Amino acid sequence: MLSELIDFLASLHPLVVHLPIGIILLTIAIDVFMKNKNNSVQRVITMGWFFSFFTGLLAALFGWFLGDNGYYFESQINIHRWSGVAFVSLCFFIWLMRYINFRFSRAFNRSINITTVILLTVTGHFGGEMTHGQNYLVENLPFVKKEISSLKITEAKKTETDSLFVYEDLVYPVLEEKCMACHNQNKAYGGLNMSAFESLVKGGNSGAGIQKGNPYKSLIYKRVSFPHDHPKFMPPAGVPLSYDQIATLEWWIDNGAEKQMPVTLVRKDPKVQRMMELQYGLDLREKTYLETLQLASIASSDLKVLEDEKYMWRFLNPEESFLDVKFTAKKIETADLLTLQKIKKNITWLNLSDCKLSDEQLGYLSEFPNLTRLKIQKNPMLTNKGIEALQELENLSQLNLYGTRINDAAFTTLGQMKSLEKLFLWNTRVTAKGIAAFKAQHPDIEVIAGL
Ligand code: HEC
Repeated sequence: MLSELIDFLASLHPLVVHLPIGIILLTIAIDVFMKNKNNSVQRVITMGWFFSFFTGLLAALFGWFLGDNGYYFESQINIHRWSGVAFVSLCFFIWLMRYINFRFSRAFNRSINITTVILLTVTGHFGGEMTHGQNYLVENLPFVKKEISSLKITEAKKTETDSLFVYEDLVYPVLEEKCMACHNQNKAYGGLNMSAFESLVKGGNSGAGIQKGNPYKSLIYKRVSFPHDHPKFMPPAGVPLSYDQIATLEWWIDNGAEKQMPVTLVRKDPKVQRMMELQYGLDLREKTYLETLQLASIASSDLKVLEDEKYMWRFLNPEESFLDVKFTAKKIETADLLTLQKIKKNITWLNLSDCKLSDEQLGYLSEFPNLTRLKIQKNPMLTNKGIEALQELENLSQLNLYGTRINDAAFTTLGQMKSLEKLFLWNTRVTAKGIAAFKAQHPDIEVIAGL
């Protein structure tokens, strides 16, 4: 009962504060602007100071109750609280002096008026900031640019999207900025401490902070998505969560709210992915092997090895680090392969078709770390044995074997290739049955066989 009464009085604070403001401004206006003040006017002014003191005292008392509910930041409340107390004390002191007919000098009177207005402004400003949020006035000035997304992800992390985690990089920083002043291990309003993942999930006095898989049963999510004027809306002071921050929180909880959930998991929800890309300036598309590879551009001295009619080549990227090389002579020698080995890091596409390549020579290619496309078609000497060496090419995604002598037994080797996506097999000795069995085991690999 008593606590309800106190809550009620506390809720009157924002209303009652306007009384001393109005009264004191009017009193000072009369004092400043009325020349020849007779006794009645002087008495009105004395009364003005009294009512400012009295209504100010009520406002301060109610405010004291309100400040105790934990809905405000202590840093803001302290200035507001003590400048309010100073204002009330000053009003009381001035009223008392006037009441006992103490005569002020003009200069003293003026400084009293100025001090009072300053105190009033400071108190009012910090009070307003607590209810409307910081920079409320400034943000609403016309022509002032407003900052919308507040989440800061460092540039280094933006390029390394594979190592971004939803909780650590997108959720925690927001909670830290907007909630933890009131929900930490020292001060945990509602019994809720958000500074550690475990206690965030556990929640406070009224239940689970996060119920993994169900945002609508998670108090953290519920409280931030209430309408702003709902008494349980969080945060009660300061800047509310933005739309994208709430959407990210919802998506994270919906998908299990694991501590180590990678941001790239969002690829299965294109809408949320798009939102994250726009709001946080991230590029969350799946990257090909080459996009993730940072290779220095090839030195022109190294390129000299290709200065021969036998080789045709071009750069595959503007940074001039990846090469597409084609061997054009009728017959390849082992020396040619040794030449190519000198720039093996840079060769990404290689075409050695129709040049009488042998099984042993294929062995030289096993050390080309960045080879992604290899064409060795129309080399009728090649057999299953030769392509075994290609198993080591971890990044090979396209392989053209048409017109070679490989047969169904080669599928064992081909099945080992981790990055294989496309395979050309027509005019070889593989059978339709062999292909069908291979496809059943590796549905992601596209087989072009012309059978
Ligand atoms: C200025 C202080 C303050 C800030 C900032 C704040 N809260 Fe609170 N919060 C409180 C107080 C006081 C309570 C207890 C009274 C109540 O339940 O409303 C509370 C209670 C809660 C509860 C209920 C706990 C329970 O189990 O009873 C949740 C959930 C919550 N806050 C979430 C948040 C979230 C999320 C944020 C950040 C977006 C936040 N709060 C920011 C003061 C704050």
